[in-house]
Order: sequence, then C-alpha cells, then structure tokens
Amino acid sequence: MPSPAVATPPRPVEPFLPFTRPTIDDATIAGVAEVLRSGWITSGPQVKAFEASLSEYFGGRPVRAFNSGTCTMEIALRIAGVGPGDEVITTPLSWVATANVVLAVGARPVFADIDPVTRNIDLGRVEAAVTPRTRAIIPVDLAGLPVDRDRLGAIARRHKLRVVEDAAQSFGSTWKGRRIGSFGDFVSVSFHANKNITTSEGGCLVLNDEREAALAERYRLQGVARTGHDGMDVEFPGGKFNMTDVAARIGLGQLPHAGEFLARRRELARGYFEEFGEPSVRSLGIGLPVQDFTDCNWHMFQVMLPEALPGVTRAAVMEEMRSAGIGTGVHYPAIHLFTLYRRMGWKEGDFPHAEHAGRNILTLPLFPAMGRSDVTRVVRALSSVLRAHAA
Ligand SMILES: Cc1ncc(COP(=O)(O)O)c(C=O)c1O
Repeated sequence: MPSPAVATPPRPVEPFLPFTRPTIDDATIAGVAEVLRSGWITSGPQVKAFEASLSEYFGGRPVRAFNSGTCTMEIALRIAGVGPGDEVITTPLSWVATANVVLAVGARPVFADIDPVTRNIDLGRVEAAVTPRTRAIIPVDLAGLPVDRDRLGAIARRHKLRVVEDAAQSFGSTWKGRRIGSFGDFVSVSFHANKNITTSEGGCLVLNDEREAALAERYRLQGVARTGHDGMDVEFPGGKFNMTDVAARIGLGQLPHAGEFLARRRELARGYFEEFGEPSVRSLGIGLPVQDFTDCNWHMFQVMLPEALPGVTRAAVMEEMRSAGIGTGVHYPAIHLFTLYRRMGWKEGDFPHAEHAGRNILTLPLFPAMGRSDVTRVVRALSSVLRAHAA
C-alpha cells in the first residue's frame, strides 16, 4: 500500500519589513487613553509639560511645540523678519517643505548644491551664494548627519544672516559633543511618524529668548495675544499650528526612550556597514553614507544605487524589494526639478550632485524594533536584485 502523502510544511513567510515604524510603548498608549478621557484633548497641560521636557533636553533653551516641523520653519522665518525681496539659501536635497516655507513667507529660495559625500549642503557653495538680499540660511541634517556647525556659524556671523536649522531629522544628533538644538539660532525639529521620536504629526522650535517664544506662540494661533482672563488682541495674522495634548502625550512617552532608540539605530547602522563591507557585496558599487558613529542619530540608512546598471531603474529595484517583503523609500528627489521650481527657472544640470542623489538614493529599513537579522535580510535582498540585473 502506498504510504499516505505527507504534506510539506509551508515555508514560514517573513513578515513585511517597512522602511520605518514607530515604537510606542504600552505606557504611552495608556497615557494617551487617559488624555482622551480627561475632557481636555487639544493644547493644554500635556503640551506645556512636553515643551518643558524638550527645553530641558535642549539645554534650557526656550522651546515651543507645533503641529508640524514645517510650520516651525515658516514661523522662524517670520520671526526673523524674512519676507518679499529676501533670499534664503538652502539645499536642493531635502523634503520639499524646506524650500516651500521660503515661498510661504514670500521670499526666494536660493539653492546651493550638496557635498556628494555628506549629502548635506556644501557650505563653500553657501558662502558663494550670499548676495546683498540674503537674509537667512536653512541647512538640513539629512538622515541625521549634522552640517558642520562651526563653519555654518562662521558664515552666518560673517554675513549677518539668521539660521533656521532644519533639524527635522537630527533629533538626538550632536556636533562636537553638543546636542543639536542646544546651541545655535532657530532650530526646527519634526516629530512626524517616521522621525526618531514622534508625536504622530508635530514639531518643535527651539528659540533664542522669551521674546521670540512669545512671538512664536502668536504665530502659532491666529496671532492672538492674551492678557489676564479676558484680554485679547491681534496685531498680525497667525496660523493654526498648535499641537494637541493627545500628540504631546505621545511625545512625552517617547522622550525617555530617545537614548535607547538612538543606541539601537547606531547598532543597526553598524550592522549595515558590516554587511555592505562583505567583498561580494562591495563589488556591486553601492554608495554608502558617511560612517559617523559620534554625531549622527542614524535617522535613515541611505544608499546610492549604482547609476550605470543597464536597464534597471530605481523604481524597479524598489518593486523587487517589495516583492521580497522589504519596504524602501526615496528621500528625496531634487527639489529644484519639481514643476513648481522649474517654473521659477531652475532646470536639470543646475545642481548635479543633488540631482545624482535625487535619482539614485534609496532609504533602507532602519528603526529601533528591527533585529540585526533584518539588516542581513535587506542587504541580501538588495544584493541579489542588483546582481540579477548586472548579470
Ligand atoms: C528634512 C525635513 N524637513 C522638514 C520636514 C517637515 O516636517 P513635518 O513633516 O513635521 O512638517 C521633514 C519631515 O519629513 C523633513 O524630513
């Protein structure tokens, strides 16, 4: 008698690995539920407590919380008095918010190409781009790698410019041992869901003094200035940019984990360098980020795909990675090549390094809940996708 067929056990399917995922603990979730039950869910005591904790985190500087890390930059520019007729120098390789806020206040963005190694704005080009109309610089710490704060500060002082640090991605990064945000001029941070700490959506602005903080509060909510119980006046229009207590409670639950999240991100980034350092992987010509384990918060691990691969687009690589159960991202296409900016006169060839990055950069999964084996899985999958096309 033939023996009954034995069913082959199905191969375990590895769960989908997104390129990022927030880590929110049960205490925070319970805390949010408490806020929801409290009867006060918009801006209130949680926002005040979050601002106080952030101020402590940033060395005692005044901090105000907002509903994004975009409005924070716009408000900083407004406080600095930047407006029509002014120029603001920034990088073409960032989330488009960085340049859009310059347009929002009626000023003109002036792009300076990136340094292809750091992928951050090239400060030599910043200096060359200064004109009598320049009022401010918005540097971006892409992927958390800080822009050289010594050179930046020297340029700003030399040309009497304000600086709005777009530190959306560099929460927890340092410069020569000093935490980003604890020094400098305006510092804008994002707490968007994919950031190193999150409030789901949100941001904060580190300011220089209480006068600026009071102005930030007015820009945050319709320009309203209150006195006593019933005094209210409006001298200029503000927006609707306040953070809710629900969001602030998430942030309060995230902040104590910032150090451990950072350590984990660094460990995983080290893992990536180990895996990409394997001779058979190295030969694929994938460009790696700067190996900075001192200052960078490893907000993202971004590689540069080899441009010369025949017949393979980045989109195809992303699709094949997705089929292998791995999410990837693009941060970012070059800003000056968006239709809005092309209409203002920019074109291909204006910023070759940013354009090269914009075409080839790829963000790989990196978040605290990942395991070291996930890193191996990502690098193996990417290598085999590229090898298949190189063959
Ligand atoms: C570099 C950079 N600038 C600005 C922002 C805007 O932050 P938000 O999304 O909180 O408005 C982001 C967020 O993605 C960012 O990565």
